[in-house]
Amino acid sequence: MRDPSFGRSLALFRAFLREQDDPRAAYELLARDAADQVERLVPLKDRVVVDVGGGSGYFTREFRRRGAHGYLFEPDPAELAPTGSREALRSAGAAGSDGTPRPQGTAVVADGYLLPLADGVADVCFSSNVLEHVRDPGTFLSELVRVTRPGGLIYVSFTNWLSPWGGHEWAPWHYLGAERARARYERRTGRAAKHRLGENLFALGVGPTLRHVRGRDDVEILSARSRYWPVLPGVVTRIPVVREFATWNLLLLLRRCP
Ligand SMILES: C[S@@+](CC[C@H](N)C(=O)[O-])C[C@H]1O[C@@H](n2cnc3c(N)ncnc32)[C@H](O)[C@@H]1O
Repeated sequence: MRDPSFGRSLALFRAFLREQDDPRAAYELLARDAADQVERLVPLKDRVVVDVGGGSGYFTREFRRRGAHGYLFEPDPAELAPTGSREALRSAGAAGSDGTPRPQGTAVVADGYLLPLADGVADVCFSSNVLEHVRDPGTFLSELVRVTRPGGLIYVSFTNWLSPWGGHEWAPWHYLGAERARARYERRTGRAAKHRLGENLFALGVGPTLRHVRGRDDVEILSARSRYWPVLPGVVTRIPVVREFATWNLLLLLRRCP
């Protein structure tokens, strides 16, 4: 898929809408798309790729499929289990004969603030949709930079708070307030919401994040753009106020300074 293009954005949006019914198809498509974005800058074959907060490992598996040495770091063991129905997981070989999901690939239970890695070991440090889930994004970014070799690539993307999807499972009602949106979600679905603002979801903005990254002397910004936009993805992130609503998901491609 060409990035950016309407066809690509439409395919990703369709997959996003069907994520609840068919998570495997949605995440495999997203993983292929992200690996394409990385490969436009760094050939993946034989490279060390560290996926921080990699959840159930779709991205790591895609990196490995392309010949990279992919390693998954995830603090929550429950997230390591692949998502999908027992039937779908069994047929994909991602679950045992009784349908119990099993983690795929090389996974390490570890917090992104404190990775059990030496300085500069990764050619690519990858983190998709994690930054809005950490209380101190600056420190989290510093750890990604630390484990990346000088000249290596850091891929960071996150859904910003004022994005239509900023409230995650209780979006778009977060525009009316987080607590109200969460209560509404729980009332409507009868399920406990996964996220709570200030605990495991934080109101991270595009502007403050860009200012933070521009102020760092350990990374060079290769690209700061909307991850999914079909046209001018790098322009929308430059317009104050508008970018907070329209970016949807900010993608930062950074190079660690020598
Ligand atoms: C929305 S999921 C994203 C999963 C996957 N990267 C993706 O893009 O589909 C957020 C992930 O961030 C992880 N996470 C939260 N805090 C973290 C931390 N301090 N260090 C590393 N990962 C963290 C969560 O456990 C969860 O797996």
